Amino acid sequence: MPVPAIIFPADPLNPRRPDPHFAWEARLLRESGGEHHLVDHDALLAGRAREAVRQVPRDSGPLWYRGWMLPSARYAGFAAALTARGGNLLTSAPGYAAAHELPGWYGVFEGATPASAWIPSDGPVPPGPEAIAAAAARIGGSGPAIVKDYVKSRKHEWDEACYVPELADLAAVDRVVRRFVELQGEFLAGGVVLRRYEEFERADGPADGAPGGVGAPDGTGGPEDGGGPDGVEGGAEADGPGAGGRAVEARVWWLDGSPVLVGPHPDAPHLSVEPDLTDVRPLVRMLGCRFVTTDLASRADGSGWRVVEVGDGQVSELPHGIDPSGLLTSLIAA
Ligand SMILES: Nc1ncnc2c1ncn2[C@@H]1O[C@H](COP(=O)(O)OP(=O)(O)OP(=O)(O)O)[C@@H](O)[C@H]1O
Ligand SMILES: [Mg+2]
Repeated sequence: MPVPAIIFPADPLNPRRPDPHFAWEARLLRESGGEHHLVDHDALLAGRAREAVRQVPRDSGPLWYRGWMLPSARYAGFAAALTARGGNLLTSAPGYAAAHELPGWYGVFEGATPASAWIPSDGPVPPGPEAIAAAAARIGGSGPAIVKDYVKSRKHEWDEACYVPELADLAAVDRVVRRFVELQGEFLAGGVVLRRYEEFERADGPADGAPGGVGAPDGTGGPEDGGGPDGVEGGAEADGPGAGGRAVEARVWWLDGSPVLVGPHPDAPHLSVEPDLTDVRPLVRMLGCRFVTTDLASRADGSGWRVVEVGDGQVSELPHGIDPSGLLTSLIAA
């Protein structure tokens, strides 16, 4: 059986080398006896997939990708261009979309994740008030909620473009959604999602019952985490002043249904978290994607772990300070 190689984005300034953000992963991979290839991320994003994979040798066999997030359609072009060169991305285009976009994984995780409703969109155009009211009604119609798209939130603009204090106040929901869509602009992925807000345990202890208040995630405005299609999921370095009060999240990396790495969320890499995976494991298996991440948060009332979101493992950010050697070794043994 041929051993999978891993494709990393090339450094735009030095296309023969991995992008500096992924250079350490490439180095660890090499030290583990693995092989990597490079892809031109800008060409991929621009829809020039054939050109983007020029550096990948022909007939390279099984392949994983570790790199920046790609819109699902661009990932499909990437997969097709590799197939045409005799390569085989081990996460198929439908598999990528299923893990990467909320509507793709929600059906499997429903009940284990905050109730969610979505409104597909054809571009950066805010949904009309009727569509927003209908989506709000689908998740109960009252109580606090959060707004995001199929892939990312604007958690750094929490009050303005993420948190909705009361769903029944449709004018306020409309305002947050409009601002969210405006800020996402051309990077809006798929459409608008409304999710019921749940109180999670925070780094500074149990929640104080003030949704979006003291403990609002990065509410004090940590550095932008590279959201939008150019980011990796769960961008790093948001460990700003708000970190003391954010929800405690664990990021669990699953390969073929088994957890191969359990660590903190990249936004709070210093927190140690030990999630109970009993309920999540069968759901990950049911999803059927080979390499995914789940971000888990513990309910503030201690009633168990919740899935905040699912992601494709190829584009999930690793927290600083974690050693991914075991993960990389598992990938090339898969
Ligand atoms: N339903 C919810 N209830 C309470 N808090 C939530 C909810 N959804 C999201 N959050 C908070 O907002 C943050 C951002 O949400 P989410 O993880 O869905 O967006 P994101 O932009 O994809 O984040 P990232 O990719 O950085 O993990 C979460 O880390 C969590 O703290
Ligand atoms: Mg998240």
